[in-house]
Amino acid sequence: MPDKPLIALAPMAGVTDAPFRLLCSQKGADFTVSEMISAQGCLTAPPSQNAYRFLTHVEKGEGPVYVQLFGADPVFMAQAAAKLYGTGRYIGVDINMGCPAHKITGGGAGSCLLQTPETAAGIMRAVRKAVNGPVTVKMRLGWDSFTAPQFVRMAQNEGMDMITVHGRTKVQQYAGKADWDAIAHIKQIVTIPVLLNGDVFAAEDAVAALRHTGCAGLMVGRGALGNPWLFAQIKAALQGENAKRPSRTEVVETAIGHADSMAAWKGERHAVIEMRKHFAWYIKGMHGAARLRTRINQLGTLAQVADALRAFVLEAGGDEPH
Ligand SMILES: Cc1cc2nc3c(=O)[nH]c(=O)nc-3n(C[C@H](O)[C@H](O)[C@H](O)COP(=O)(O)O)c2cc1C
Repeated sequence: MPDKPLIALAPMAGVTDAPFRLLCSQKGADFTVSEMISAQGCLTAPPSQNAYRFLTHVEKGEGPVYVQLFGADPVFMAQAAAKLYGTGRYIGVDINMGCPAHKITGGGAGSCLLQTPETAAGIMRAVRKAVNGPVTVKMRLGWDSFTAPQFVRMAQNEGMDMITVHGRTKVQQYAGKADWDAIAHIKQIVTIPVLLNGDVFAAEDAVAALRHTGCAGLMVGRGALGNPWLFAQIKAALQGENAKRPSRTEVVETAIGHADSMAAWKGERHAVIEMRKHFAWYIKGMHGAARLRTRINQLGTLAQVADALRAFVLEAGGDEPH
């Protein structure tokens, strides 16, 4: 295992927007990745269209961010990569070759590219040529079998700077356990950095996975939902230190700060709705969380939500670790 493995936030559509990335980078993520963005959409959307303005927004003070693109056409992918990298907001471009959702694979993008290696190679080559900075790939073990070994060799030959591998096939979706043996094998095949991904929910998982695979680092997805402390906890555990757990008050105050930063960006009406899932993740596991979640989902202002959260932790014992 390297001295300082990279501990990053995985791309998550609907989640890894600017406020959440900012929070994770403040709490120790070495880099973050945007939500996946359609190459074609970003080329054709009028600049005034909110969806793309929001998707491509990078907040002041964010740490290093990769922009992730999906698409099946090398020309569009290269043009979109050049356009977004050219804004100077991102440290590099990540190519989505792992998304299993039908609306993405149906168009030949995401994990469908694992079935069409020639198209995948064409995309990597075109994006590599278009971007004068890091270009990376995030992929799965294969479509329905373990084809990643050939694939990562190809990615290295096409000049990719790093590969992140989610240890499941497309067909597995999220079932079963991420296969760290398979990732350890892939890591041996190439000389470029390989990041492992899948099922890191706690600091101990990260240490075990990094030891097992020898990877250059990892990406955390679902484990960071409501738990941006995980990055610092992983780093502490890698130093052999005890991972510090936040108090309930700290969790709730962080959730409120997260909501404020969302409101400052998108306005309160959007923030109240979009933060509901985050609030549910933050309070998950606390006694009475289900009732509080239902209540929060009926509240219309962030001040009301903040009051409800603070009253809840006061009763639950705010100093207790979450
Ligand atoms: C809500 C959600 C949205 C996701 N969106 C993306 C995405 O936009 N691009 C991508 O490459 N992977 C996406 N993923 C997959 C994650 O990046 C990650 O590979 C997967 O969740 C496994 O890692 P984990 O076990 O740490 O969550 C998404 C996952 C979730 C749960």
